[in-house]
Amino acid sequence: QSQSRVTAIGAYVPERILTNEDLQKMVDTSDEWIVQRTGMRERRIAAEGQFTSDLAEQAVKDMVRRYGVSVQDVDMILVATSTPDFVFPSTAARLQAKLGIQNTGALDMNAACAGFGYALQIADGWITSGMYRKILVIGAETISKITDYTDRATCILFGDGAGAVLVERDEEQPGFLASITGTYGEGGMNLYKTGLARQMDGQDLGSECIVQNGREIYKWAVRNVPEGTQRLIQRAQLAPEDVDWFVPHSANLRMIEAICERGPVPFERTLTSVEYFGNTSAASIPLALQLAVDNGKLKAGQNVLLYGFGGGMTYAGSIIHWT
Ligand code: ACO
Repeated sequence: QSQSRVTAIGAYVPERILTNEDLQKMVDTSDEWIVQRTGMRERRIAAEGQFTSDLAEQAVKDMVRRYGVSVQDVDMILVATSTPDFVFPSTAARLQAKLGIQNTGALDMNAACAGFGYALQIADGWITSGMYRKILVIGAETISKITDYTDRATCILFGDGAGAVLVERDEEQPGFLASITGTYGEGGMNLYKTGLARQMDGQDLGSECIVQNGREIYKWAVRNVPEGTQRLIQRAQLAPEDVDWFVPHSANLRMIEAICERGPVPFERTLTSVEYFGNTSAASIPLALQLAVDNGKLKAGQNVLLYGFGGGMTYAGSIIHWT
């Protein structure tokens, strides 16, 4: 049984707003098409010199302001990101320096849009094992920096942002009810950003930016997520009605509607950040949680089903009691 819970949350998005009208001037698209296919209206774009560790720093500061918590005594900084400032040093190590935290571990994790889900599970596992007591978990991305703004099929989707939570030891009121992960690596090349490998099977992989087969990802998610969330609810020994809120990765609002039609939790009980922030990859779930705390939907004692999925393809879900 889990011995940890989430005790605080904060978020940050960059100031610059990119609207559907702006995109209309950049590529052959329309506000109507984007809203109809994705439910997105705006996304935030990091400034030229603003990188993932900068967004993460602001999200942590927001959390500290809101909850009056200290992060100076954390045992570990986990940053889920697929857009690190550098390959190394890690974004987490840069964040440690920015925040001036002494005696902490620092680790980046890349599971694309599922990253925050994985990072939460690892924090819970480390704390429950007794190894550590307090872990800072962040999902932060500057996806705009790897987006091709001449490709209308991808540039309308992505945005930048960061969310931070604190996971702490609590034997009396543990917060994690169950977790689940899975991977379909065979479908991985439906969504990629090249690294060292520039060719596959003799084929040039091309672009420095995100390459995506949107249709295939859509089909995979609509097949996988309903079944995975069902298994997760069973693993937690709950009924679907016991899940107050479903927080899927905010990839596309229409896709989330299709998932809910086939899955255990109805669309009315979903929380997303997709409409005004777009797809922010590893940041999308904490951003959705923060929005729901702010608008009073998400309350202490509620059961929240978080489910990150995406590039890999891979997924990580947990059901937690909200603090
Ligand atoms: N504006 C206007 N037309 C467009 C646009 C656009 N922005 N983008 C594509 N089109 C056109 C295509 O060219 C195509 O035209 P054609 O029929 O003349 O060839 C037509 O619209 C249909 O294209 P599809 O790609 O089949 O459109 P679809 O309905 O599948 O919607 C979308 C595309 C929104 C990308 C959808 O497939 C999707 O959301 N997929 C999932 C993507 C996703 O979630 N990615 C990330 C997940 S993991 C992660 O978050 C890292």
